[in-house]
Amino acid sequence: MVGLIAFSFTTKGMMNMFDLTGQIALVTGAANGIGKGIAETLTKAGARVMIADVNEEDGKRTAEALGGEFYKLDVTQPKEAERVVEAIVERHGTIDILAANAGIYPEVYIEEMEESDWDVIQSINLKGVFFTAKPVLRVMKERGYGRVILTSSITGDITGYPGGSIYGATKAAILGYMRSTAVEYAKYGITVNAVQPGMIATEGLKKQLGILSEKGANAVPMKRLGEPEDIGAAVAFFASKEANYITGQSLVIDGGQIIPETPDVIL
Ligand SMILES: NC(=O)c1ccc[n+]([C@@H]2O[C@H](COP(=O)([O-])OP(=O)(O)OC[C@H]3O[C@@H](n4cnc5c(N)ncnc54)[C@H](O)[C@@H]3O)[C@@H](O)[C@H]2O)c1
Repeated sequence: MVGLIAFSFTTKGMMNMFDLTGQIALVTGAANGIGKGIAETLTKAGARVMIADVNEEDGKRTAEALGGEFYKLDVTQPKEAERVVEAIVERHGTIDILAANAGIYPEVYIEEMEESDWDVIQSINLKGVFFTAKPVLRVMKERGYGRVILTSSITGDITGYPGGSIYGATKAAILGYMRSTAVEYAKYGITVNAVQPGMIATEGLKKQLGILSEKGANAVPMKRLGEPEDIGAAVAFFASKEANYITGQSLVIDGGQIIPETPDVIL
């Protein structure tokens, strides 16, 4: 009998693992690509997802498809971020999960590079993370609970490609931001972690890095590009209550891309 009770308790516990039922999640850059995959995965895990994106048309479509809500947000505008966070909190009372994912990765070669290229890419990829996280962290701190997951990349921290220097610098910097933020907010029950995707099949990859989108799978031991949901699964794990002792960490999700010593000779 005791065994039976223990078993049913364990089974019930198992069924509830990684459950995000009723949680409020804000995902930036969620109209398309990886952000959309994150939004879909969090929705499947039970969260109510707030789709924030500069692209209104696609954002509304994604929100409707997922039964979520759309908020127009250009992450380079701190006042807009504050307004969006206020609106969500007014409506839902809190924000449990932030996936700060919006980002761009145009190729810019060193000799053609202008200061304006730095400004544009940095303001979306890096300042955009800070501008969105700041008002959300304030809300989470008041409540003593929160999960922040940042979309970094393998680029910059681990790998590089021609034309990727500004992009790589911003994505490596996100990890620097993450570590200190994790330490600053640990005592408030808030974790701050990051995902580092390899090549993920998105519209953005096709448009911005066509050659990687077409031929990149050859460099991946799993012989395929990743899917947005592959990143969503890692975000859902970091967002779960079970990940409550993990903070300041990043997870590479790349089908093994960074591992081979001799990438041309993958058998
Ligand atoms: N696709 C990959 O292979 C890959 C690999 C590593 C990291 N990443 C990172 O993942 C994130 C998403 O990339 P993706 O491939 O899904 O790109 P994507 O272009 O397919 O989607 C990006 C979304 O972000 C939105 N966005 C762009 N600028 C914005 C702004 N200022 N404010 C709010 N939203 C904005 C776009 O409208 C779009 O909906 C980026 O941070 C990117 O650096 C992508």
